[in-house]
Amino acid sequence: MDTREFQSVLRTIESKIGIQCANYKADYLQRRIQSRMRMNEMDSYTEYNSLIISSAKEQEALRNALTINVTKFWRDQEVFDLIKSEVLPEIRRRKQKIRIWSAGCATGEEPYTLALMCHEAKVLYPDVQVTIFASDIDREALKKAETGIYHRKALENLSESRIRRHFDKQQDGSYQVKDHLRDLVKFSRHDLMSGRAVTQYLDVILCRNVTIYFTEKQKDELARVFAPALTEGGYYVMGKTEYMGRDVEQLYDPYNSIQKIYQKKKRGA
Ligand SMILES: C[S@@+](CC[C@H](N)C(=O)[O-])C[C@H]1O[C@@H](n2cnc3c(N)ncnc32)[C@H](O)[C@@H]1O
Repeated sequence: MDTREFQSVLRTIESKIGIQCANYKADYLQRRIQSRMRMNEMDSYTEYNSLIISSAKEQEALRNALTINVTKFWRDQEVFDLIKSEVLPEIRRRKQKIRIWSAGCATGEEPYTLALMCHEAKVLYPDVQVTIFASDIDREALKKAETGIYHRKALENLSESRIRRHFDKQQDGSYQVKDHLRDLVKFSRHDLMSGRAVTQYLDVILCRNVTIYFTEKQKDELARVFAPALTEGGYYVMGKTEYMGRDVEQLYDPYNSIQKIYQKKKRGA
């Protein structure tokens, strides 16, 4: 590989697409970029660099390739079951306002699953206010998330009765999340590498299947950003294949190691 030419592509990605490449794993970036090059039948980084500089369409395609938005309603059933049966009721016993952040929410299935769960866990009654902050770096994914419209296939993990209760069928056969769930979710664009949280006083942060592409250093940095944004005893939920780095594990206590749920360490503990 011509390293200089590859570095030029990374610089173009930073300036034109706004993704900070230094914080992503190099082999991940290389695989994604090469896949786009193959699509364009190119084998030189220099040639591909010129294409991204000149083509807004290719910038868009590369952004999509780099920010893989794969997600699902109720992705990893066990972790959601645990949040519903243990985590939310525990928070509810001590608080009237519950604040949750779905960090790296892609097209919205995760925050809407949380909203649905809060309804079913009866967390909202009586007098409990739930806000779900949902953010992603990818504007296109957020646009879709905000509409709350999905194909039938995206709902395959949901029972018929859940679909009837929480979605409106559209004329074209797609399904839109009903307002009683949409009203709970606030979407915004946010870069997890910005060094700040989207908001503070959070009771739960879900950041799942996002840091798999980050360098170890950036992953640890994120755990350091999340800790002060959580309330005491607040929960940090990682993806199934993600893990807490050695340098930051003193900030959290494991709550359920299998489901990758951690709890912010209590002061003096
Ligand atoms: C595979 S999806 C995960 C969606 C959801 N959390 C889940 O587990 O189903 C990864 C998401 O992370 C987002 N992402 C990647 N880098 C990011 C960054 N620096 N800041 C915010 N979001 C980022 C991508 O745009 C993508 O939507």
